[in-house]
Amino acid sequence: MVDLHNHILPGIDDGAKDMEETLKMGKIAEAEGFSKIIATPHYIEGEFTLEKEQFLGIINAVNEHFAEQSVHIEVLPGLEIYISPDLPSKLEKGEVFTLNNTPYVLVELPMGSVPIYTEDILYEMRLLGYKPVIAHPERYIKVTKDPDYLRGLIEQGNYVQINSLSIIGVLGKKTKQTAEILLKHKMVHFIGTDAHTSRIRSPRIKEALEQMRKWVGDEYVEEIINNGRALIRGEEITIPQPLTYKPGKGFLRKMKNLFS
Ligand SMILES: [Fe+2]
Repeated sequence: MVDLHNHILPGIDDGAKDMEETLKMGKIAEAEGFSKIIATPHYIEGEFTLEKEQFLGIINAVNEHFAEQSVHIEVLPGLEIYISPDLPSKLEKGEVFTLNNTPYVLVELPMGSVPIYTEDILYEMRLLGYKPVIAHPERYIKVTKDPDYLRGLIEQGNYVQINSLSIIGVLGKKTKQTAEILLKHKMVHFIGTDAHTSRIRSPRIKEALEQMRKWVGDEYVEEIINNGRALIRGEEITIPQPLTYKPGKGFLRKMKNLFS
């Protein structure tokens, strides 16, 4: 399997703090069934930025260390890029880069509110030939309150990556509920772990896949796994028609929403 979203590189962002932690994460990932990981450190202007040469050097060092330690994981280059108005021009200038040098770009939105320019920036990226992949929308307040907002982004031509740890409740109850809604409404195209450590936020997926199979069945889950393989090769994927989410009208549901 391929992990498309992982903060495994040592000492770059808020992920693995050193090579020892990176190795621990690699061992967990291998035991979970991964053979490839796209390293996606945060790129946030003014907070986490990095030079491509330095970045590729770290990836090489990790791959060499894994080979020495008999960890059968290949680490590939990527970034999790925080949305900003100049994202399309940064891509064009090569200041930020895509997932494994494919047209797919992992884009992070703010947790609290979606910037007004979001749809325009994603549109501009698509015009330039990129394929925006929205990172973990189940974590964004906008989507937890209005899952149907995401359907609009998908219909415009953007893709969606969900976190395995959201599905098993590591990132909170509301996030898990939203993950379930998104899956049941066919609004998920890719899965990643978004692992940051070898502890709670580790690169685990097995339990999440079991939960997903219970929610939506084997076929859709296999499709999501296969999409990851297609992504690293830069291939097009076929996506299902997303379904409209209609919140329940029941009194209990209203009360639940009020207190959640
Ligand atoms: Fe992340």
